[in-house]
Amino acid sequence: MPGPTAAGAVPAGRARTLAQVYRHFGEAVAAGTSPLYERVALALSESGGALGAIEAAPARKRHPTVILAALHDLALAGRAPALAAAYAAADGDAAADAAIEVLLRMTGSVVAIAVRRRTRANETGRCAVLYPAIAEAARRAGADAVGLIDVGCSAGLNLNVDRVGIRYSNGQSLGEPSSPVQLPASIVGDRPIPVRAIPEVVARIGVDLDPVDVTDADDARWLRACLWPDQPERAARLEAEMALAATTPPLLLRGDAIEVLPGAFARVPPGALPVVTTTWALSRFPLESRLRFLHRLDEAATGRAVAWVSAEGVGVAPAIPTLGDRRASGHSIIGLAVFGQSALRAEAIGRCWSRGRLLAWLADPHVHRHARGHGPPDA
Ligand SMILES: C[S@@+](CC[C@H](N)C(=O)[O-])C[C@H]1O[C@@H](n2cnc3c(N)ncnc32)[C@H](O)[C@@H]1O
Repeated sequence: MPGPTAAGAVPAGRARTLAQVYRHFGEAVAAGTSPLYERVALALSESGGALGAIEAAPARKRHPTVILAALHDLALAGRAPALAAAYAAADGDAAADAAIEVLLRMTGSVVAIAVRRRTRANETGRCAVLYPAIAEAARRAGADAVGLIDVGCSAGLNLNVDRVGIRYSNGQSLGEPSSPVQLPASIVGDRPIPVRAIPEVVARIGVDLDPVDVTDADDARWLRACLWPDQPERAARLEAEMALAATTPPLLLRGDAIEVLPGAFARVPPGALPVVTTTWALSRFPLESRLRFLHRLDEAATGRAVAWVSAEGVGVAPAIPTLGDRRASGHSIIGLAVFGQSALRAEAIGRCWSRGRLLAWLADPHVHRHARGHGPPDA
């Protein structure tokens, strides 16, 4: 098996930069969280052969998170048994050797996976934020049934928001106490979460340019591959979330949300409130598309009320107030907009951190602010 630099010296120029990227990932990102990825990333940073293989991928697909997930995918698929064994044994030295060997021997396969796939982090705290916000949307619209439309849904795990249990650090809980998926979340500040339940969910629709289908073996393996191999708790939670999702698979609509949304609304039965959700998705939309997204919601609200719940970086979700917070300040705003037939109410109802694992609820449950006339929403 080749040693870390067996395949030749690190080429000059871009490869040195790539070496620095991998070294930084090992020392500053993986260190303390994943001893395996720390060791593997450092070994790759020192291997000219490995770096050369990674350079066969397009520049935007060379990042350690993508390449390490591609290697992990091959291990989980049984195509890289030595790497799989090293990960299972938590043997960092063996994993480093095996990762280099796989990169050299199966360069084309690693690159093909990296090119085909986007890394995913679709799990954990999002439902802790979405649950009370969707229930609040239904209350404000007077709805006793909702149809969920998650935009930028990835694997659509948000669409099971009513079927998980959530325990908040202040002792409150929401959702299903007996669900196989139990999520902890920390409350920041004194204001309690409203404990209203989400009404009956009559439609679960995911919209994404590239949705992931948890009932498809390759897609499910890719979700597993995106987790780091020495994070058993996250792996167990993902398995539980995927198993839950597989019992009621959402309808996944592939395409640009702007094009696909009218069809998604049409699939929510009359009498149910369509609740669109976006979690850290709109930053991927150009500004003009974000405004067109809002217009789509506005258009859909001509015949019935429509709600939009967002968890997005400060200033990313158009029409949602920023509370005076700075952009890129590290936290996100929980937004709630209800498009009625005569008015749009768009409000920031909370802040959250760490993709929803910590949240502060702000909304006074009995006061509606930011009421204004109906019409095309602005940014
Ligand atoms: C950063 S991920 C967020 C995924 C998920 N909502 C979460 O909380 O982890 C952004 C997702 O938006 C999707 N996406 C980006 N642009 C899109 C568009 N124009 N229409 C639909 N989906 C889009 C991507 O494919 C990706 O799955």
